[in-house]
Amino acid sequence: MELNKLKNLMDSMTLEEKIGQLVQLSGEFFDADDMAVGPKQKLGISQETIDLCGSVLNVVGAKKVVQIQKSYLEKSRHKIPLLFMADIIYGYKTIYPIPLALGCSWNPQMVKQCNRFTSREASAAGAHVTFAPMVDLVRDPRWGRCMESTGEDPYLNGVFAKAMVEGFQGTFEPKESIASCVKHFAAYGAGEGGREYNTVDMSKRRLFQDYLPGYQRAVEAGCEMVMTSFNTVDGIPSSANENLLRNILRDEWNFDGVVIADYAAIQELIAHGVAEDDAQAASLAMKAGVDIDMKTPCYSNHLKDLISDGKLQEDLVDQSVWRILKLKNKLGLFEDPFRGASEENEAKNLCNATHMQMSRQAARESMVLLQNENQVLPIEAGKKIALLGPYANSQDLIGLWAVHGDRNQVISLKTAFEEEKDRNEFAWTRGCEVLDDYSVLGDFGFYQNSEKALTKEEKLEEVKKAIELAKWADVVVFALGEHLLQSGEAGSRTQLNIPDNQMDFLDQILPYVKQSVVLLFNGRPLVLTDLAKKVDAMMECWFPGSQGGHAIVDLLFHKANPSGRLTMSFPYTTGQIPIYYNSYNTGRPMATSIHSNRFMSRYLDAPNEAFYPFGFGLSYHNCEYSKLSLSNTVMQPKQTIQVTVEVTNISDVRGEEVVQLYIRDLVGSVVRPIKELKGFQKITLDPKESKQVIFELNEKMLEFYTADMSYQAEEGKFEVYIGKDSTTQNKEIFVLRK
Ligand code: GLC
Repeated sequence: MELNKLKNLMDSMTLEEKIGQLVQLSGEFFDADDMAVGPKQKLGISQETIDLCGSVLNVVGAKKVVQIQKSYLEKSRHKIPLLFMADIIYGYKTIYPIPLALGCSWNPQMVKQCNRFTSREASAAGAHVTFAPMVDLVRDPRWGRCMESTGEDPYLNGVFAKAMVEGFQGTFEPKESIASCVKHFAAYGAGEGGREYNTVDMSKRRLFQDYLPGYQRAVEAGCEMVMTSFNTVDGIPSSANENLLRNILRDEWNFDGVVIADYAAIQELIAHGVAEDDAQAASLAMKAGVDIDMKTPCYSNHLKDLISDGKLQEDLVDQSVWRILKLKNKLGLFEDPFRGASEENEAKNLCNATHMQMSRQAARESMVLLQNENQVLPIEAGKKIALLGPYANSQDLIGLWAVHGDRNQVISLKTAFEEEKDRNEFAWTRGCEVLDDYSVLGDFGFYQNSEKALTKEEKLEEVKKAIELAKWADVVVFALGEHLLQSGEAGSRTQLNIPDNQMDFLDQILPYVKQSVVLLFNGRPLVLTDLAKKVDAMMECWFPGSQGGHAIVDLLFHKANPSGRLTMSFPYTTGQIPIYYNSYNTGRPMATSIHSNRFMSRYLDAPNEAFYPFGFGLSYHNCEYSKLSLSNTVMQPKQTIQVTVEVTNISDVRGEEVVQLYIRDLVGSVVRPIKELKGFQKITLDPKESKQVIFELNEKMLEFYTADMSYQAEEGKFEVYIGKDSTTQNKEIFVLRK
């Protein structure tokens, strides 16, 4: 619709109709089975609010969406279609690896393609907007929502944010694209103590330097919506934070899209203590620039009175309505309120072979080989394999936020092994539960634990059977991990271990094991320090999605070569947290301090380094880096320096290598990280093959928030590193002259 017509439409709307556009309700208000993803609460809204509401939360499925849209439009005076929004984070029915895993692929182009396929499925099912990508930087693995993030590095998060937005939105062609909503703005990943929904408080410098870049890259990539976060930023909850939502997001970043509050976040301004009641909460949020109220009665029950009492300008409501109508218009909803949603399109797209193959490839590239003692992996053909553990035959491989995922289509490990191995070479048993006590997990609406609980006797039987299988097998593959409800939203933990009951099980079996491999299923970095000493090989599988079983077996039998590299540090112990590679040197660094070995920045009972560092991962091949050289050791303004390195695959197997480029600004007007990722290239090398890898280094890559918060590069000495992970010492020096 032409914008002038859209404007005329808006001008003809009553205040009640306009306020209705600012309200989002979940499925139960539309007689749809409610895909509950948040706390249930009584809303206290009128039927008129339901009849006028502008968008729907987490109702998808062509038949249901078409039915709701039809009956809604029949009652709608202006025939303004509903906007259907959903949590389609890493797949719709075809589920890809969790974003923390996708980040470990270091393959943004592939991740973009995953999202293209997801948009095709989701739009066939009637979704218009997805609440993704989540780009919250996270340096604290106690926080359960690590699993939704791509990790601890601002630059890498930004690269993936761009790729994910472009993947979802494409060029907005119907049936192929949905609008993306970047979240959670801002700095939700910095909750104190890693505790969910906890206070965030940091310097403006850290906020801008480290935590905002991911959202900014998403806005630059054209994402249509931004979701506020539950937390405070500088003492003010995001949903009432004018500085965040107007000064930064709209004025500095020129964002002209829609801002939606996270689930009930407007009403939670009362609990935060910045609003006395729903009316004040509504006023604060509208003034701050929140356009849509997700699932609270604040806007619907109070905006009209606030305006008539002169406490709120109607123009603010008009601005919000206009942004929402423009988004509906951009999606083509006025011309086609169903936007191609149909059961026929669903049948053609959902979980089709192309998407499933993409999911398998993404899972292969996302897994990280952490340890491979005695070269136990890849497993040689003909070896007898026992698969033991609670993830042996689980379909929880899709992780928690696969809200709409098709669990029945998940390829379990057992299924994949049985396809690969003869019956006389493979056996499995569950061995033990994921947890001894599930009550701590609470309930998460749609998720129901599908595995039948083992009785005491059955547990004893399982151990006996597992011991027999271990004795029989040449190689024992343990499939262990967190329960999927131990990560994701409201999944914060203070101990980051594999559950004790699983470790007890492992200890009972290991004495009978010849060669051991542990496959890990988890949504965050874990403390693996003890486990690593007990077993030969360990592979981080994360929650690998619909094709998880196939991808793992592909890697175990060398149909593919592990290439994943960590994007979050794994600590030796939780006491080190927060731990991240791009930290500051301090005045007493252990490596170079002039003080005796006590008076240095260190712990008495643990190292400073990560157990597995950012950028780390093993492969079946091995590469050497040599001949690091710079085209110039002085960078003049506007000039680039070519950084060249030779990478040689010294093994006899083909593989992919993630060549990583870091810099260090040796002296700045403020302290600078000991390393900062500034580029990477994922290359493929045949056996014995060497490749020259070239990076272009320019002044823009050296910019940061200086002492006066101006964003620029400062002249002086820099180190440039190229290596296989963030611990590389392979460096050269150059000088920036301005
Ligand atoms: C949840 C999450 C958010 C999600 C929203 C809608 O509480 O914080 O990520 O998109 O509510 O389900």
